[in-house]
Formats: sequence, structure tokens, C-alpha cells
Amino acid sequence: MTSLSDEAVDTLLAEARLHGERAWVPYSNFRVGAAVLTADGTTVGGCNVENASYGLAVCGERTAMFSAIAQGHRDLVALAVSCLDGDTSQPATLMPCGACRQVMLELLRPHALVIVDGVGRLGLDDLLPRPFRL
Ligand code: THU
Repeated sequence: MTSLSDEAVDTLLAEARLHGERAWVPYSNFRVGAAVLTADGTTVGGCNVENASYGLAVCGERTAMFSAIAQGHRDLVALAVSCLDGDTSQPATLMPCGACRQVMLELLRPHALVIVDGVGRLGLDDLLPRPFRL
């Protein structure tokens, strides 16, 4: 798994939390921020964005990953996610959803580090064992 210093992890988490503050969540009031670290050291953030047509909501993790790709980055080494309104006594409320895990598998580098605020450092194998692939 990609290793990052504690300082680099803290910086990425801070960026994820900052983006969580920007979430557009009038329906759930559940703010999620994420930040991707690229191989050249760039950080690209994202937040969840909801819509009155509920199914159109996009998670913070995917917003961050899609933004990084759209900005031309191809080697995404780590992702931090922070559920600002999660319940730390219920860690499941802090975890990335299944759809985002599937996208992480395709867009992050194979041994990417995923940092889940309030939970810790995980690998893609931990998050999505026996995944679908083409
Ligand atoms: N959400 C995320 O942004 N990431 C996840 O991994 C889980 C869920 C968002 C979607 C929706 O805007 C809100 O959290 C409540 O489900």
C-alpha cells in the first residue's frame, strides 16, 4: 500500500474536511468531503452535491476523483474522505458507499491509500474484496 507521512495524511484530511463544508445537501443535511492526492503532489477536492431529483446526488468521493481526472491527472495515489455529519460511535456512517468503492478501484492506483476520517487508513482490498472488473 502507498505510504504517506502522518503530516501528509493530516493535510489531505484537512482538505477533505474543507470540501465537506462546501457540500450541497439540502435534502440529507449529510456533508461529505473528499480529497485526492496525485502523484505530482496536487490535491483535488470534492463534496457531495444533491438535487431535488434525489437519485442525481453525487457523492463527495466521486466528485473529487472525477475532478482529478478532468484536470488531467492519471496517477491518483491516495484519497481522504470525511463525513462531517457522521456519528463516530457508528463507524458505518463514516465509510464510503459501495458505488464510490467501485469507482476508487478503477480510478485510484492499485495500491492506493484510502483515509477514512474517524476510522483510519485502508487499502482497496479492504474496501472492496472480490470486485467486479472488465
Ligand atoms: N454520500 C457521500 O457523499 N459519500 C458516501 O460515500 C456516502 C454517501 C452522500 C450522498 C448523499 O448526498 C448523502 O451522503 C446522504 O447519503
